[in-house]
This record gives sequence, C-alpha cells and structure tokens, in this order.
Amino acid sequence: MILLLKISIVRFFKRLDASLVPGMGTALVIGSAVLIGIAVPPAFREALATSRLFTDENRRRVEVLLVQTGLDQPASARLASPALLRAGQHVLRQQCIECHDLRTVIARPRTPDGWRQTVRRMAELTSYLAPIF
Ligand code: HEC
Repeated sequence: MILLLKISIVRFFKRLDASLVPGMGTALVIGSAVLIGIAVPPAFREALATSRLFTDENRRRVEVLLVQTGLDQPASARLASPALLRAGQHVLRQQCIECHDLRTVIARPRTPDGWRQTVRRMAELTSYLAPIF
C-alpha cells in the first residue's frame, strides 16, 4: 500500500516528492522489518518441529504411544514409519485445516476408534469439490 502510494507520488506528483518520499521509505523499511519479525520465528519453529518428527527417538515415542492406545505392535510400528508419518502430516496439512485450524484437531486426545469416528464425521462434512476419502 505505502509502496504503491510512493511509486505514484514519484511518478505523477513530483512536487510532493521531496517532502513525503523519504518518510515513506522509512515507513516501508520499518513495516518490512516488522512483518519479517512476525513471520520468520514461527517458520523456524515449524522447521525445527518438523525435523524432529522423523528422528528415531520420536518415532519410538509415537510407536509406544500407539501401543498404549490399544493398537497392536506391528500396526503401531508401521504407523510410526517415516513414510506413514509423512503421509499423515500431509493429510493434516492439506485436508484438516480447510475449515478449522490444527488446534481444533489436537484439542482433545482420542483413541484410534475415536479418531476413525471423528474423521468419518469430518468426511461427511466435506463438499463434493474437496472430499476427504
Ligand atoms: C468441511 C470442513 C471440515 C474439514 C475438511 C475438517 N473438519 Fe473437523 N470440524 C469441522 C466442523 C464444522 C467442526 C465443528 C463441528 C463438529 O464438531 O461437528 C469440526 C470439528 C473438529 C474436531 C472437534 C470435534 C470434537 O468432536 O471434539 C476435530 C477433532 C476435528 N474437526 C478434526 C478434523 C480432522 C482430523 C480433519 C481432517 C481429516 C478435519 N477435522 C477436517 C469441519 C471440518
């Protein structure tokens, strides 16, 4: 917005140039710095969390948790494999944040059966244009 205004002043209103443009330049720099400050830390945090997701330590943790929820050992090991963790991450990122954010999804722990019911209910809510299968 400020950038557009600045360009139009420089191009079309030469007389305002000297008085307004330096101030706008400063505003642009400050605005950009603030936006970068807001956007960069969460991006780093997410990158860090994502890289931890696939470590052996985390996969063992997920496997143990899955066994505790009542899944048998082979199924838990399969679900905690890098490929299936990645597939799950993909589904969450692509399909589950269209209508609400991830906080809604992780607000309450559920058993595997509870999750199946919830996802089935979510699938019924989706449109024909973007169905969840
Ligand atoms: C078509 C829109 C839509 C999509 C896509 C969607 N949801 Fe939802 N979700 C809703 C709505 C609306 C609610 C609140 C009403 C309700 O609970 O039925 C909700 C609520 C929830 C809740 C809280 C409900 C409860 O019983 O506590 C969970 C958990 C959830 N969604 C998980 C998911 C997951 C996981 C996915 C991806 C597989 C997903 N949602 C995709 C619309 C959607």
